[in-house]
Amino acid sequence: VRTTVSVIKADIGGLAGHHIVHPKLKEIAASELAEAKSSRIIEDFYITSVGDDLQLIMTHRKGVDSSEVHGLAWNTFKKCADAAKELGLYGAGQDLLKDAFSGNLRGMGPGVAEMEFEERPSDPIVVFMADKTEPGAFNLPIFKIFADPFNTAGLVIDPKLHSGFIFEIMDVIESKVVELSSPEDMYDILSIIGTPSRYVIKRVFRKVDREIAASISTTRLSLIAGKYVGKDDPVAIVRAQAGFPALGEILEPFSFPFLVAGWMRGSHAGPLMPVSERDARPTRFDGPPRIVALGFQVKDSKLIGPSDLFSDVAFDETRRMANFIADYMRRHGPFMPHRLGPEEMEYTTLPEVLKKLEGKFRHE
Ligand code: F6R
Ligand code: MG
Ligand code: MG
Repeated sequence: VRTTVSVIKADIGGLAGHHIVHPKLKEIAASELAEAKSSRIIEDFYITSVGDDLQLIMTHRKGVDSSEVHGLAWNTFKKCADAAKELGLYGAGQDLLKDAFSGNLRGMGPGVAEMEFEERPSDPIVVFMADKTEPGAFNLPIFKIFADPFNTAGLVIDPKLHSGFIFEIMDVIESKVVELSSPEDMYDILSIIGTPSRYVIKRVFRKVDREIAASISTTRLSLIAGKYVGKDDPVAIVRAQAGFPALGEILEPFSFPFLVAGWMRGSHAGPLMPVSERDARPTRFDGPPRIVALGFQVKDSKLIGPSDLFSDVAFDETRRMANFIADYMRRHGPFMPHRLGPEEMEYTTLPEVLKKLEGKFRHE
């Protein structure tokens, strides 16, 4: 069977500010998707939330960029947004940037990660969902998973992984993509993905057969709306095992709470903390940024699972370190490099403040 996995998310309103998704919204989404499942638009689904983002994890047979599936997600979010408005939730409908759906979610606000593949007899996947950060936050871990032999033992040991992976990288400012191959182009890859605000890994393919290995959402809301409308809390899908990185190789990069852009007002660098679904409730300085990983088996286009992967106590030390780093970073207050640099701040509300100051400067 050829199955498509679509992870589509949007922030359509928070309970107590930009904190969590109200359970009512998840109920509405579940009933919409249950209906779509019974009419076979989708084959299966799982609904969850990470921070203030509502997550629709769906399987179907319509391929990527399906107008039916994207339309379903759009209409579901619309219904949820109506409920969010009624409940007076904060930022109701905030990620729904356009009025009418026109066949595809691209450029409309919601984040999308999708992949279509021929199911293996047993096909494990990991769905990652982050809050209070941006799509480029996945650059470091995706690089480590598919290109760093110190992270992924399979790159050295397993012949299927040994020839490496192809990275499709998007320049989100100029809307261009480039394909680079690891290990040959490793230094070129790093030369661009080290700027995660601009260059974002979009997809990864296995080199031996060009099988899809990973897919990451690449929306930048501010570039659609032309102003700051919140960070584009990203999602990703990664395939695991039997010729792909092992589950533990996929999770290993997250044992280091590396710094990402986002956190308070989308304007600060902070540690990415891996947490269980239950702990995806960021409050400290609106954060620190969180990431949840759910493991599924895909069988006959059905989602078996999930397993809440970062609930493992082996990530306790990572969380402790993340809290320590959060303290350390916070003590810089409004100073860089805790606060992001000027290019990034251009997409926040800071320019409005700076404008008022302009006239007060005199030449020296
Ligand atoms: C970050 C985020 C929050 C808000 C902050 C201010 O992604 O969503 O940190 O930026 O709470 O929100 P407003 O401007 O809506 O009061
Ligand atoms: Mg929000
Ligand atoms: Mg969010």
